Amino acid sequence: MVSTSAQFIFFCLFILFTATATTATDHIVGANKGWNPGINYTLWANNQTFYVGDLISFRYQKTQYNVFQVNQTGYDNCTTEGALGNWTSGKDFIPLNEAKRFYFICGNGQCFNGMKVTVLVHPLPPPPSGSIAANSTPSGSAAPVVFHKGLVGLRAFVLALASILFGSGWI
Ligand SMILES: *[C@@H]1O[C@H](CO)[C@@H](O)[C@H](O)[C@H]1NC(C)=O
Ligand SMILES: *[C@@H]1O[C@H](CO)[C@@H](O)[C@H](O)[C@H]1NC(C)=O
Ligand SMILES: *[C@@H]1O[C@H](CO)[C@@H](O)[C@H](O)[C@H]1NC(C)=O
Ligand SMILES: *[C@@H]1O[C@H](CO)[C@@H](O)[C@H](O)[C@H]1NC(C)=O
Ligand SMILES: *[C@@H]1O[C@H](CO)[C@@H](O)[C@H](O)[C@H]1NC(C)=O
Repeated sequence: MVSTSAQFIFFCLFILFTATATTATDHIVGANKGWNPGINYTLWANNQTFYVGDLISFRYQKTQYNVFQVNQTGYDNCTTEGALGNWTSGKDFIPLNEAKRFYFICGNGQCFNGMKVTVLVHPLPPPPSGSIAANSTPSGSAAPVVFHKGLVGLRAFVLALASILFGSGWI
């Protein structure tokens, strides 16, 4: 029989693992003001840091507004020609899956009233020093790979501990 305290320790490690694995942030455009005319979204964007894997989400009245992903020309000129994507649900979650600058505008003319936002997405930061992957940086490889290796190492550790606590039949 596995003791209750062993189960509790494993539970804590499991929580730690899950918490570490889901560090993506959901950036709600405009915070509690949402996606509406007359808001300076440059101020909102300047107040946070975006990383690859984060989400940007737009909350709005779907009968009135929408979201288009455009390039810099579309952003500067409020045009949706050649748009890279469009969303209309009123609660849209858009993955920021690349380290680059993203541009979003509202497609019904409200872009001219400020409904435009651009965010610069950064590569994932390196894992904190002392983490399992800290001394195994492969040369020439990007930060996300290092981060992923860290997670794999942590999972292996948790699984190994689980098999010690619960017996090898557990996995
Ligand atoms: C929004 O704020 C930024 C930073 O203060 C400013 O440069 C920009 O002109 C403002 N945009 C509008 C449309 O007021
Ligand atoms: C910037 O972020 C802080 C902390 O989240 C918040 O209190 C503040 O209102 C934000 N400022 C703007 C302009 O969004
Ligand atoms: C964008 O607007 C500028 C100035 O308003 C104009 O010179 C330019 O041709 C426009 N670009 C496109 C692609 O429409
Ligand atoms: C943006 O897309 C439009 C339409 O596809 C294109 O004409 C324009 O050159 C693009 N602008 C940039 C900066 O890539
Ligand atoms: C919106 O996106 C869909 C595909 O996701 C595309 O078929 C449609 O033409 C787009 N609408 C506009 C107005 O760009």
